Parts: sequence; C-alpha cells; structure tokens
Amino acid sequence: MSDFSKKVYIETLGCQMNKSDSERILGILSHFGYEPTQDEHEADFCIVNTCSIRKLSEDKAYSKLGVWGKMKKQKPLKIAICGCVAQQEGENLLKRFPYLDLVFGTHNIYELPDLINKEGRICAVTNTPVKEKEFNIIRTKGLNAWLPIIEGCNNFCSYCIVPYTRGRERSREVEAIINEAKNILKQGYKEITLLGQNVDSYGKDLPDKPTLAYLLSEIEKLEGNFRIRFVTSYPTDITDELIETVKNSTKICECFHIPMQSGSTPILKAMNRRYTREQYAQIVKKIRDNIENVTITSDFIAGFPGETDEDFEQTLSAFDEFELDYSNTAAYSPRPKTPAAKWVDKYVDEEVKKQRLSVLNDKVKEMTLKSNQKYVGKTLEVLVESFKDGKFEGRTRNNKVVHIEADSINIGDFVDVEIQRASTWCLFGSKK
Ligand code: SAH
Ligand code: SF4
Ligand code: F3S
Repeated sequence: MSDFSKKVYIETLGCQMNKSDSERILGILSHFGYEPTQDEHEADFCIVNTCSIRKLSEDKAYSKLGVWGKMKKQKPLKIAICGCVAQQEGENLLKRFPYLDLVFGTHNIYELPDLINKEGRICAVTNTPVKEKEFNIIRTKGLNAWLPIIEGCNNFCSYCIVPYTRGRERSREVEAIINEAKNILKQGYKEITLLGQNVDSYGKDLPDKPTLAYLLSEIEKLEGNFRIRFVTSYPTDITDELIETVKNSTKICECFHIPMQSGSTPILKAMNRRYTREQYAQIVKKIRDNIENVTITSDFIAGFPGETDEDFEQTLSAFDEFELDYSNTAAYSPRPKTPAAKWVDKYVDEEVKKQRLSVLNDKVKEMTLKSNQKYVGKTLEVLVESFKDGKFEGRTRNNKVVHIEADSINIGDFVDVEIQRASTWCLFGSKK
C-alpha cells in the first residue's frame, strides 16, 4: 500500500456485518490512492455505511449526510452513502441529497473500482450481488477480526428489513474463509468472529453442503492460540452437531447469541419466527446441559403490533426462565416493505412501547448483574485487550468484560484471572 494521495473517512452504523463491509470498502479504496482517516474534517471522501433496521438508524445516516453537505460548501469533498439504507432507497437518495456523489448498495461493494473514478453523480444499486474479488482488507486495529461466512437472510420475519437490504442467503466457500482466517492469524489477531445474519444456514447453498460445525472445526485446526466466535444463531436451526463441536473445542468460545424476540408464542407466530416459547426453552436447555459456563444472549423487541400486557409479561418471564445472560433490546419500528408495518390497527401506543422498553432494559440490567455474580470466586481465562485508566481490561471466553489487577501482563496475553467482584457491565479480578 503506497502512493496515498487522498484521505477517506467512513462512518459505520449498524451491525458487525456493516463493520466488516467497511473494512473491505477501505481495503478496495486503498488500491485507488485512498488512505483511511479517523478525522472527517481532513477527508477528501466521506462515506456513511448505513443501517436501516429501525427508523432511528436510518435517520442517523441522513443527519450525517447533512453535516457533510455543509462541509462541502467550504472545500471539495466527495460524499457517498452505502449499506442497507442505500440498498433500500437507491436513486431516491440522489434526488433528496443534492450534494451526494455516490450511492452504492450492499450488493455493489465489489463494483467500487469501476465507480470510484467515474464522472457525475452515480447510483449503483442492483438486486443481484456483484461477485467478491481479491482486494486488501483494512481491518480495525485490536485483537478481534470479523470474518463474514454467510450473507443475506431467507427468513422474512414480519418486522425485519434485512432480507430486503441484504438479499437471499449466500455462503462463502470454505476455502476462501479458511484462507482469510489464516491471514487474520498471520496479522496477529487473537480472536476470529464468524459473521452471518443466520450462521446456522451456512453451507446449505453450497455444492458440498458444509455445515457451520464443520467450518468451525476446520478453523479450529489452524495453528496458534486464538479464540473463535460466531454470530447470530437462529434458535431452531442450532444443531446437535454444533453443540457437540462447541463442547469439544478448546478454541470456540462458549457463547450463543440466540435472539428470541418475544417470550409469547402468539407474538412469535405473528413475527413469523419458526418456533414457540417451548421450542426455545428446549434449545436453551440442551445447550446449558451440554456446555459448562455457557453464555446465552438474546435480542427482544418491545411493542410489536398486537403485543398485549400479558404478551409482554411473557417476555419478562422468559429472561428468568432461560436465565439469559444479556440481551439487546429495541422498541418496534415499522419498516418499509415488511408485513408488520401494515398492521396499523394493531400498533402499540408509543408511550406504552417506550414504557415497555424501559422495563425491558431494567430487566436486562438485573439479569446481566445476576449472570456476572455467578463468576465471583471463580478463575476465568481472560484475553487482555487494552490498558485504560491504569487498568488492564480483557474479555473471558464467555464474553464478559474483566478489569484486571496485574503487574506485568501484555495486551494479547491469555491470563487466568480470579474474579473478586461483579458489577452490571463488568467483572473485577486479579491475575493468578
Ligand atoms: N438475524 C438476527 C438479527 C438481525 S437484526 C436474528 O434473526 O435474530 C438485529 C435485531 O434487530 C433483531 O434481532 C431484532 O431484535 C431487531 N429488529 C429487527 N427489526 C426490527 C424492527 N423493525 N423494529 C425493532 N427492532 C428490530
Ligand atoms: Fe431479520 Fe429474521 Fe432474518 Fe434475523 S432472521 S435477519 S430478524 S428476517
Ligand atoms: Fe442494520 Fe443492515 Fe445490519 S439493516 S443491522 S446494517 S444488516
């Protein structure tokens, strides 16, 4: 990488898949003279990589464009929007934001080399994905590397825009993933997180039908001391083979992120989720019975159309019943094209929705503290990740943040830490 003559700033909103895409976008641009910068004010090219999961995330993207539009009045600046909002809105964005130069969709990242030096205002959003090509990847510094294994979603949950912004499920070839994992390890990363909207669907569209469990065990075979994680799992797609593989592995971390979305079976049905509360219970039990110290995290939506007080109570009781270790939460947000958005007569009152979200967040805090307290007095392996305010900080295999008392440790070390105290968001301990 040399001959950098211009600077590019990318603002990444949304999920890990977007973070990973941004690393690829920066990599591609590095072939065209663009060096990444963390300071938007010194950039020649500003890109917002957007998320459209909720109205709020979409609006964040537009306000960013507004800021850059003003900057462009002071100096020459190229402005682009990509990601899920770009895929969803396409040409409309060029009309709405006159200072915008380039719109490219989630399917068009690998078209960037053709787009970057084209004259005029361009919109490149197609329904068919442009094939992946070999380019640099400029990964975020740190110890964890993202590794996408499958993109898209076939599930069409009735509230969710992802199948429309990311298209149908497409798995990457095992060989491409293994090669990327080798490169990641060569660069010194200590943790690889496999990414997909539904990692359990991995391989179903490939000729040899490799499973997620197979892929994990192939990565496990790579030399070195490192951790493997995978997100996100769909409850009823988690196989016995996967649970066995995690159980018998030394490198795969004991963590399952299994969004439940609601604790009420009728609401799950309306959400077009393919499981009942009882089926969710079974999978959680199977995982907990097999894997010691496993962390199970979830996502829940408050105020889905038609959700009654009783349904919401069921969501709260799900936390207790399944002893969930943590959960992401969100208030339901109607999204274009999704079936649930049309159920206006069933919309939950905004105030009630807000109230439920706040109760849900309190529940998450309560459960997270309870989960952390289980580890007081135990010794856990911690990967040392940073040094902040005179303290080392790291994470356990089951993804808990630990503040470590220690004299001589290095970032990147795996150390045994005796946990002495727990708060809601972290554990405190000293190196053994
Ligand atoms: N593939 C994952 C989740 C991807 S989206 C899964 O199947 O669970 C991340 C989370 O955003 C979802 O789990 C859901 O909780 C939330 N979400 C999706 N659409 C939403 C909407 N319209 N309103 C509020 N939250 C939503
Ligand atoms: Fe969205 Fe459902 Fe697909 Fe997850 S499984 S990305 S919630 S449609
Ligand atoms: Fe958002 Fe797109 Fe991810 S909608 S959550 S950035 S797949």
